Amino acid sequence: MQLDKLCVACFSPTHTSMKIARAIADGTRIARREEIDLTTDPADTPISVRNAICIVAAPVYGGLVAPVAVRRIARLRAENSIAIPVVVYGNRDYEDALVQLRDLLHAQGFTPLCGAAFVGEHSYSRPGMPVAEGRPDAADLQKAAAFGAQAYGSLLHQLNLPHPPATDARDFALTYDSPLESLVTAPAMKGNVPYKTLGPSTPQAPVVNDNCYGCGECVDWCPTGAITIADGRSATRVDLCTKCCACVKFCPVGGRTFDTPYTAMLHQNFSARREPECFV
Ligand SMILES: Cc1cc2nc3c(=O)[nH]c(=O)nc-3n(C[C@H](O)[C@H](O)[C@H](O)COP(=O)(O)O)c2cc1C
Ligand code: SF4
Ligand code: SF4
Repeated sequence: MQLDKLCVACFSPTHTSMKIARAIADGTRIARREEIDLTTDPADTPISVRNAICIVAAPVYGGLVAPVAVRRIARLRAENSIAIPVVVYGNRDYEDALVQLRDLLHAQGFTPLCGAAFVGEHSYSRPGMPVAEGRPDAADLQKAAAFGAQAYGSLLHQLNLPHPPATDARDFALTYDSPLESLVTAPAMKGNVPYKTLGPSTPQAPVVNDNCYGCGECVDWCPTGAITIADGRSATRVDLCTKCCACVKFCPVGGRTFDTPYTAMLHQNFSARREPECFV
């Protein structure tokens, strides 16, 4: 049996989870790499992942994995593959999200290896009221790369394979002779099982202002197809909006804002820098 590639699978509306996942991938130095971006792909057809070490990254919403991410990640069907679950949160807490992602990937046929929680700028962060502004920063990305190297080292150790010299060789393959499940064990990770339960959330969507000139770019960034263009301006279906704030962060002219009292609360109570937590 062989593992012959690295796979990076992400759901990442404001791109912080994706940045972390790519840095972890870089840290493994495995050059044969595939990327599966689940952020704006609404299909529900299965995606086969075979013979891969798969880094799967998703944001934390309410202390759990973002519900749309759960639905998209459930498309992955693994065969003889390792999963490295990674959650990215906005400096408040990730609560049960990491164990939830680990268990979801296990249910999809993966063998979980190591896991990690990293910090990304909070979706609700805004000028004047920043929350984890600019993160992941250089120090986070360095830690992510180090985690990638450590996770790869742990895999080699558990498969009883020699640690090769650092290499970017494209002919990557690890060969072993028993099912992964019998060779690889994941360490304990922070979080509760059963996971927390969430109450219903209040429907809300970003507000469009006069800066919007209807260019339509945000239609492509929206993970749930909530944005349409009508009469030269963008409009939002509140029932589809997940408050991910991709449209707010990426609009080149500041055409959308998302105002919630939660931002001030986060700024006040969760500004002290939190560091990544890696479970190897
Ligand atoms: C609806 C919603 C709920 C969130 N809940 C949490 C949370 O419970 N804890 C936290 O620290 N950050 C929370 N965040 C912030 C995101 O986890 C954080 O900004 C993350 O970096 C976004 O990932 P992305 O850039 O891949 O989209 C939440 C964001 C949204 C939109
Ligand atoms: S909100 Fe911004 S990105 Fe979206 S249509 Fe308006 S100008 Fe374009
Ligand atoms: S409309 Fe809602 S779901 Fe779509 S990008 Fe904006 S905040 Fe995210």
